[in-house]
Amino acid sequence: MVKPKSLHRPTICYRPIRPSDLQILEQIHSDLFPIRYETEFFENVVNGRDIVSWAAVDRSQPNDQNDELIGFITAKIVLAKESEIGDILSYDPLKSDQTLVYILTLGVVETYRNLGIASSLIREVIKYSSSIQTCRAVYLHVISYNNPAIHLYKKMSFKSVRRLQGFYLINGQHYDSYLFVYYVNGGRSPCSPLELLTVMVSYMRNGLKSMSARLWRNEGKKFSKWSKCKETHCLISKTQSRRNLTAECTGCECV
Ligand SMILES: CC(C)(COP(=O)(O)OP(=O)(O)OC[C@H]1O[C@@H](n2cnc3c(N)ncnc32)[C@H](O)[C@@H]1OP(=O)(O)O)[C@@H](O)C(=O)NCCC(=O)NCCS
Repeated sequence: MVKPKSLHRPTICYRPIRPSDLQILEQIHSDLFPIRYETEFFENVVNGRDIVSWAAVDRSQPNDQNDELIGFITAKIVLAKESEIGDILSYDPLKSDQTLVYILTLGVVETYRNLGIASSLIREVIKYSSSIQTCRAVYLHVISYNNPAIHLYKKMSFKSVRRLQGFYLINGQHYDSYLFVYYVNGGRSPCSPLELLTVMVSYMRNGLKSMSARLWRNEGKKFSKWSKCKETHCLISKTQSRRNLTAECTGCECV
């Protein structure tokens, strides 16, 4: 993996991720995240299958390394009505084609940090999202102890709209996540009394759902076969709001 020369200012360029990045992309993900992603995820990224991505490379490196990834961001477009933040968008039911961009993974190799690379990658996603007429926001999850990332999103004017208790399950331990949103193209959070009431009702409904999920989980613990199954299968799916990071994952999100 490339390292910046100590006395040399790197020349960082941004480009889409492509098939030749497959190996290094997998390597960096496994270095940076407490998740093992399935090969299918990386193949979808490098082939641009339902996933958009940007790579950061250091052109000041020697020829054999000057196109090697030193940072990346991956994201996908989701329908607002099917997303978990449909309720916190001032959502117009007449415009059912409204979309959002969900950031899946973001990372910069350690030796290139604090140079503004992640900020630039996020700006690329914001620019891209703004260019999609139907897109109303960019959003992501971040684990509650990831201070560098939280600092970064706040600096980039993302708003923390929710704390999701026990959202992640890593090696048998639950961790909260923050849900960060950046509105684009006139997207906004609800502000009329009726809109706020709808949000509160939906929030309470989600709370009840999460409570019943917990009860269900506790019930499940009584059955050793079920709990073993939970530890060995990824629970990530488009519609699920709780993540088990002990296993391989095809659909992924920032941690
Ligand atoms: C989070 C991450 C992507 C940031 O990448 P980066 O290229 O260093 O980010 P930038 O240089 O654009 O900005 C970094 C900012 O975080 C700040 N920062 C760095 N470490 C910090 C810490 N421990 N606590 C608070 N802020 C911190 C820097 O000071 C800088 O802010 P500033 O511009 O106000 O000084 C990088 O640390 C990383 O890859 N981490 C591991 C993977 C990860 O956590 N990904 C995000 C998942 S949601």
